[in-house]
Amino acid sequence: MNRMEGKVAIVTGGARGIGRQIVETFAQEGARLIYSLDMGTGEYELPNVRQVQLNVTNRDQVAKFVEEVKNELGTIDVLVNNAGITRDALIQKMTEDMWEAVINVNLKGVFNLTQAVAPIMMENGKGSIVSISSVVGVYGNVGQTNYAATKAGVIGMTYTWAKEFTRKGAAVRSNAIAPGYVETEMMATVPDKVLQPIREKTPLGRLGKPQEIANAVLFLASDESSYVNGHVLEVTGGLRL
Ligand SMILES: NC(=O)c1ccc[n+]([C@@H]2O[C@H](COP(=O)([O-])OP(=O)(O)OC[C@H]3O[C@@H](n4cnc5c(N)ncnc54)[C@H](O)[C@@H]3O)[C@@H](O)[C@H]2O)c1
Repeated sequence: MNRMEGKVAIVTGGARGIGRQIVETFAQEGARLIYSLDMGTGEYELPNVRQVQLNVTNRDQVAKFVEEVKNELGTIDVLVNNAGITRDALIQKMTEDMWEAVINVNLKGVFNLTQAVAPIMMENGKGSIVSISSVVGVYGNVGQTNYAATKAGVIGMTYTWAKEFTRKGAAVRSNAIAPGYVETEMMATVPDKVLQPIREKTPLGRLGKPQEIANAVLFLASDESSYVNGHVLEVTGGLRL
């Protein structure tokens, strides 16, 4: 299938995990060019992928990068806000550094990229923004005050952008995905005694795979979802935390 044919896409956090799977899926689906933005570079090489070292919290780096893409290609069709981190602790033990680190990447990073990219999409009259929230942003989770705040914030921004970016008649859609627990390196820090009850609480009886999130992102990024706007798609195997 060529569901991304002709499209220029930006994926943050594309070096590994869910982001990398999104990049590879877009590449297989015939995207014209995919920019994978990350702190480091992933161990993969694809002809229609450019890996760019960039910190999403750095507004100057983000603005410079987006300006360069605009000058070279004149278009950005898809933005996937995927980069995210965790710094877990019960609130009594959560330091200001832990709070700020997560707010900076998961919330300000999404703000930075979207603020830079959305005007280009609006000018071109079309675009799709997909931001990765979490089931934790919908239902909360012990030890994740900072993370839950950011992931709920992503949902609030998504609903806002669904209205804001379409005001002048542009078909710039904004949607979010709220994954459940997915097998990536982010989960490697979570002990099995925490993960096993989650498997048991999940009607499908297992954690998700990065490809299962990438498939949902592909749908929201592509024209197949042309009438889906301001939606939060839970991809959780049925889990309610
Ligand atoms: N894995 C899960 O179970 C799960 C569940 C729900 C939501 N999510 C969300 O999905 C997204 C991807 O998660 P993952 O499991 O693939 O995580 P991961 O830790 O495997 O990968 C995250 C990537 O983001 C990059 N990144 C971090 N900070 C960055 C920054 N400041 N600038 C640029 N890149 C940065 C990292 O270098 C890394 O390559 C995150 O937003 C995460 O919160 C994950």
